[in-house]
Amino acid sequence: MSHMSRVIALFNQCGGVGKSTLTMNLGYHLQERSHRVLLVDMDPQASLTIFMGIEPEKLNSTVRDVLADEDDDEELSELPIHKGLHGLDLMPSSIDLSATELSLVNADMRDVRLKDALSPVRDEYDFILIDCPPSLGLLSYISLVAATHILVPIQTQFKAFEGTNLLLKTVARVRRRSNRGLKIAGFIPTLFDARRSQDARTLEAIKERFAAVGLIHPPIPWSTSFADSVEARVPLSVYDSSHKAIAVLKSIVLDLEVMV
Ligand SMILES: Nc1ncnc2c1ncn2[C@@H]1O[C@H](COP(=O)(O)OP(=O)(O)OP(=O)(O)O)[C@@H](O)[C@H]1O
Ligand SMILES: [Mg+2]
Repeated sequence: MSHMSRVIALFNQCGGVGKSTLTMNLGYHLQERSHRVLLVDMDPQASLTIFMGIEPEKLNSTVRDVLADEDDDEELSELPIHKGLHGLDLMPSSIDLSATELSLVNADMRDVRLKDALSPVRDEYDFILIDCPPSLGLLSYISLVAATHILVPIQTQFKAFEGTNLLLKTVARVRRRSNRGLKIAGFIPTLFDARRSQDARTLEAIKERFAAVGLIHPPIPWSTSFADSVEARVPLSVYDSSHKAIAVLKSIVLDLEVMV
């Protein structure tokens, strides 16, 4: 049986909500369940690339080369994909992606650059996870055009609401203009500290506000082990296989498996 891979963009223009950490860890648990997974780093900060143990400054080829104007660059013979990192494949990023964003502003067919670039490898993967930059700019836009689904990490702090209307407007615009079928795979409350009453209140508010928009996944607990594991350049499960957040990550993965 063949089925189309799901391309999931982890998107929230708010910085530091745990997008890159989640991309790596959800990818890890998807591959653990025998899915073939590609992670795509669309952030010039290259956090995901670094978390996965790759040094961006040493790379000859990154996602930038995939997006750049063919006229300014030699033809790309092969996609820059690093294989078998904790069972995952990675298309890395580096800081020069920010210059590419500027050069693409007036480029032809820019919106579909990532989508077109991924099409030759789509059949090789069950899941492609795109880690978006924390902005509503072009790199996020072309990520959403390439996606079948969007997953929204949302911090369980009251300020998280401020940006969400803008985020949903962006999704609506992408649907209207370039990707009618884009679906919302849900919201993942992050950095949740059950000891803080404010977090519990915000979690309830998130459920109330967004339940009609998409599935509200269980919250990812706040834990320094996330920071420690990325510092060690490994997924949380490799760093501490008995960590309590692992059950949460696994249950989200089960939801992603069955979504249409
Ligand atoms: N559940 C968590 N508990 C505690 N710290 C976390 C958790 N998830 C991520 N962090 C830490 O928070 C910081 C931001 O995480 P991350 O880089 O994944 O967020 P991001 O949304 O991708 O950020 P950016 O917007 O800059 O791309 C990192 O230092 C990371 O280690
Ligand atoms: Mg990030």
